Amino acid sequence: MTVSNTPAVKSSTFLEAVKHRRTVYGVTDEVSVSDDRIVEIVNEVIQSAPSSWNMQSTRILVTLKKEHEKLWDAITDGAKAGVLETQGEEAWTRNEERFKSFRKAYGTITVFEDHAPIEKLHSKFSHFPIGVFEGFAEHSSAMHQIILWTAIELEGLGASLQHSHMMPGAEEAIRSAFDLPSSWAPKAEIVFGGLPGDMPAAPEKEPLSTTVKVFK
Ligand SMILES: Cc1cc2nc3c(=O)[nH]c(=O)nc-3n(C[C@H](O)[C@H](O)[C@H](O)COP(=O)(O)O)c2cc1C
Repeated sequence: MTVSNTPAVKSSTFLEAVKHRRTVYGVTDEVSVSDDRIVEIVNEVIQSAPSSWNMQSTRILVTLKKEHEKLWDAITDGAKAGVLETQGEEAWTRNEERFKSFRKAYGTITVFEDHAPIEKLHSKFSHFPIGVFEGFAEHSSAMHQIILWTAIELEGLGASLQHSHMMPGAEEAIRSAFDLPSSWAPKAEIVFGGLPGDMPAAPEKEPLSTTVKVFK
């Protein structure tokens, strides 16, 4: 049997995809992509993304339409008292506006980390502190997030990466609304929907002379 070293996709195609992804705010609830395709993307990403020692600590919640609204209602209701108490009225008004705009989207892909596989892996390599594996789980989560964000936008949708679960009270409210295990900790919300206009321009980057060193 001969083994082909020629991948079906060229690096230039992959990099075009990477460069296409942008933060898109104000997305709409009208999309031309089927719910099945969205779920298929999520399934393919979770089956393909890497994790340290293949620990697979990432978990994903897909919420669409009414369920998406339920997620943002849960975050809004869960965060209100804590934000008012710790940050005051003005901060709450600002955050409530943001939550309202996310609620107008079509769906949210919430990325979680399950602490159980982290503990399991740590028990095998207990000479390392558990923080090492928690760090690797975060890295792996971020890899899932960037692949998901990019793939969703390659369907012609817009998306942004949110961390609204960090508001006091929100994390527990998300778990409770969808009856999720207590070991699932939310890490990011990918809010997506129809594009409100053209894709935004790429932000300015530091010069390559600052960010990359090459020795050859
Ligand atoms: C780790 C990380 C956390 C981010 N958190 C948020 C966030 O909480 N809310 C938000 O609106 N954008 C968030 N962003 C989006 C960045 O602001 C955005 O990626 C950056 O300004 C570059 O713009 P681009 O996404 O169009 O390339 C985050 C991005 C990264 C990589």
